[in-house]
Amino acid sequence: MDSSILVFDSGSGGLTVAAEIKKRIPNIRLSYVSDAGFFPYGKKPHDILKKRILDVISKASSLTQPDIIVIACNTASTIALDLLRAELNIPIVGVVPAIKPAASLSKSKVVMVLGTHTTVNSAYVKMLITNFATECKVLVEDSEVLVLASEQKLLGNGFDPDIVTQEIQRILANPMHLIPMY
Ligand code: DGL
Repeated sequence: MDSSILVFDSGSGGLTVAAEIKKRIPNIRLSYVSDAGFFPYGKKPHDILKKRILDVISKASSLTQPDIIVIACNTASTIALDLLRAELNIPIVGVVPAIKPAASLSKSKVVMVLGTHTTVNSAYVKMLITNFATECKVLVEDSEVLVLASEQKLLGNGFDPDIVTQEIQRILANPMHLIPMY
């Protein structure tokens, strides 16, 4: 029987990850679960999110019986990867902000991490900065406006480019400098 994979995201962004997997492993049986009922994750309390993520993925996993689970959601990975790995007896990989490759490829040694409020304030991101980007100035910023605009675009609903432009101008005018805590 073909191998089976379950891809999870809070919304539709993980479809880009699912498409890449399908391109590279065409025969894979791929299931995608989006937690549209709880989207967006970005500013919800961690304890509620963790319980929800475990619950949704456990149910999707028992329905689809995957060989491996991919968490295609930075917010879910940065707060719940450890919990998921402890609770589910299936290999789990998760996307996290690409701080390591960004720091090593950067010529300016200034890197910006743009994510949800939860992601950019997570201990996981601080750990990535401490371990892989100490030679860089790392700026972090969160934007629910961009999360919602990209979700609308991915769903084929379009988005208002002026709102996106204004949001990018706001971010570039006032990026926060993250000081790693470790
Ligand atoms: N999918 C989330 C992530 O990758 C962003 C959307 C959300 O806030 O749920 O962090």
